[in-house]
Amino acid sequence: MARTVWDSTVGKKTVMAVSGLVMLLYLVAHMIGNLKIFFGTSEFNHYAHWLRTVGEPFMHYEWTLWLIRVVLVVAVVAHATSAYQLSRRDIRARPSKYVHKKKRAGYATRTMRWGGVILGLFIVWHILDLTTGTVHSGGFESGKPYQNVVDTFSTWYGNTIYIVAMLALGLHIRHGFWSAAQTLGAGSRTRDRALKTVADVLALLLTIGFIAVPVGVMTGVVS
Ligand code: HEM
Repeated sequence: MARTVWDSTVGKKTVMAVSGLVMLLYLVAHMIGNLKIFFGTSEFNHYAHWLRTVGEPFMHYEWTLWLIRVVLVVAVVAHATSAYQLSRRDIRARPSKYVHKKKRAGYATRTMRWGGVILGLFIVWHILDLTTGTVHSGGFESGKPYQNVVDTFSTWYGNTIYIVAMLALGLHIRHGFWSAAQTLGAGSRTRDRALKTVADVLALLLTIGFIAVPVGVMTGVVS
């Protein structure tokens, strides 16, 4: 049964929609959390500490965080696998290019594919930068995310990587949210306009909210 659903195009699209919505929930929370940087070092670092102790005493130190990490990894793998398989299917259905100059995949499809690749690379960079400190520009100190974030956005490449990725994120969410709503059956002639507006507003809020942090550091509001 599960195998049949997964093998169908609709099944893969459902997996994409649900895993995408799970990641979207995480991003809304992450963006709100990041904005605490505007309230100073202790509030931001205290929040990062809370992320590790949330759920205590029922949960042990970092258990909730690890639970979130596992859910996110499952969502990312499911999203990427179904995206890859759907695009292979798409190419198999039309192996040759159109005779005229027309591109095989439309603008939205190509934006989603490239956006997905950029975001996948960004997530790896981001974790190596601000979670493990492997590629971090300053003297990375775990437990001191405020200073780590300031260091990241004190380099031209840090700002470039994050801002490009956030713009890709905005475009990806704008189209992805809309597609997910269609796949999950929320679309209808009367609701489509409202769904498009929700997708636009969500994408814009997330992009602005995330980009506010590098801009804050660049302008010296956060230092
Ligand atoms: C300007 C934008 C962003 C900033 C300033 C930022 C900041 C941070 C910081 C400081 C951490 C480490 C938190 C800690 O260890 O306490 C972190 C972790 C993380 N961020 Fe971001 N983030 C941004 C955008 C994003 C985006 C767009 C995504 C996803 C596409 C993302 C996904 C993650 C993930 C998965 C983690 C690892 C969580 C963990 O396992 O500990 N972040 N971020």
